[in-house]
Amino acid sequence: MGDAINGKKLFMKLCAKCHTTEKGGKHMIGPNLHGIVGKTSGTISGYKSSPAMKEKAVVWDEKALSDYLAWPKKFIPGSSMVFIGVKKDEERKDLFAFLATLK
Ligand code: HEC
Repeated sequence: MGDAINGKKLFMKLCAKCHTTEKGGKHMIGPNLHGIVGKTSGTISGYKSSPAMKEKAVVWDEKALSDYLAWPKKFIPGSSMVFIGVKKDEERKDLFAFLATLK
């Protein structure tokens, strides 16, 4: 199990400029990520997802999020998320642990 406290720190550093996390938080460049774990990609209400994100229709579990965040453009070519990726397994585990608290 990852470390959610460290995951939050990583999130603030790497993701928060494009994503909010609180319930009902606004969409920024990227969608609000409250309740993301267990959702299907591209189904966040009120956010205009890319066609690629909708077509992927992956359920965001730990494996899918880890694969996506490792190399977003490889996992979903054509996604509009401009982000290089998180190379360290440890860091992706911690990020997942944090995302899993958002419910
Ligand atoms: C430069 C802005 C930016 C950064 C930085 C960024 N994202 Fe995103 N993110 C986006 C955009 C834009 C989308 C929508 C992609 C699409 O629809 O193709 C997205 C989509 C997502 C999705 C899929 C949501 C769905 O539609 O189901 C997840 C999960 C996600 N981001 C997590 C993260 C995490 C975790 C980080 C940090 C490690 C991060 N993002 C960093 C802009 C960003």
